[in-house]
Amino acid sequence: MGSLNATAPLDAAVALPGSTSLRGNPTVGPATRPDASGTKTVLGFSPDMSKNFGGCFDIKERLGVGTTGAVCHIVEKKTGKSFAVKVIKRSSLPKIHHKRILLEASIMKKVSYLDHVVTLHGLLADQNSFYLVQDLGRGGDLCSHLMRHRRAYSEERAKAIAIKLFTTMRELHQRNIIHRDIKLDNIVLSDPQDDTSVLLADFGLAAILPRRGYATRKCGSPLYCAPEVMGSRPYGNAVDMWSIGIVLFMLLSLRRPFVASSVSELYQKISDGAQVKFEGSPWDTVSKEAKECIRGLLTADPHERWTAEQALRSPWIVGAARVESQAR
Ligand SMILES: Nc1ncnc2c1ncn2[C@@H]1O[C@H](COP(=O)(O)OP(=O)(O)OP(=O)(O)O)[C@@H](O)[C@H]1O
Ligand SMILES: [Mg+2]
Repeated sequence: MGSLNATAPLDAAVALPGSTSLRGNPTVGPATRPDASGTKTVLGFSPDMSKNFGGCFDIKERLGVGTTGAVCHIVEKKTGKSFAVKVIKRSSLPKIHHKRILLEASIMKKVSYLDHVVTLHGLLADQNSFYLVQDLGRGGDLCSHLMRHRRAYSEERAKAIAIKLFTTMRELHQRNIIHRDIKLDNIVLSDPQDDTSVLLADFGLAAILPRRGYATRKCGSPLYCAPEVMGSRPYGNAVDMWSIGIVLFMLLSLRRPFVASSVSELYQKISDGAQVKFEGSPWDTVSKEAKECIRGLLTADPHERWTAEQALRSPWIVGAARVESQAR
């Protein structure tokens, strides 16, 4: 086992049951019940039972499989337009999970106007399944992209992604929405020719925090979980900023910042406040501003951790690009 702060290649980190080693799966803390705070948003959002999914869409290739279901490319018969659909079988879920799906759809709908979030076009349901019809990420997810190309991002391209994620987080967090599962697998590329065309997907663990409130459910993907989640402490939107820190570290280096031989060891290390280190290649050529930003995001104390606003005002980002306006 390496030292507490050793870095390791993306595929040399913890082995997780049921997942390939490059992936951030599985998500821990399956959605057993929606946070009480989010239940309200379910009211007034119901699936469209009038449309027959099979009558409206042709199913093409499978794009991915997650803990809740498969995601496929679909084509609308009437228009020939492509979408992605997440199919969640009713039989695979206890009743309580049905509310969770309505919450996922409801939160996606609330943030669908943002430029770098997968737009939800509709929630259909029949006796067998729920169908979340959404924007198609034609370039696949970032994890698959990195695995395919085996090439780290240049600092400039990683920065372009960072700006999009920070801007999206600023909007989400202003609305008291936390994503809770930001990871390479849940970020898709809208354009296969542009490796910075990111869209945030999978709002399956997202929640709405009560004003000044905290969440308590231990959930997320172990490799991306903030220390306060791992330590079972109440937490707020800072958990998303930690996860973005992990994403940026991996984009720039193809390595993981924290390495362990098991999930419990990883929990222990991160709960104990392991510090990120930038050793060896490519960190010798990465700017100190980029490292400062990642360090700000991977700060163990959530009160000290950089917020989206702070990150957007950081030397790494300021002057790099005009902060995008998110409104479509
Ligand atoms: N809109 C999309 N366009 C293209 N591919 C997608 C899209 N949404 C999801 N995928 C692919 O499908 C995979 C699983 O989707 P998603 O993350 O929504 O499912 P999940 O069951 O919630 O997963 P998890 O294991 O993270 O809980 C993603 O990792 C990605 O590869
Ligand atoms: Mg996912």
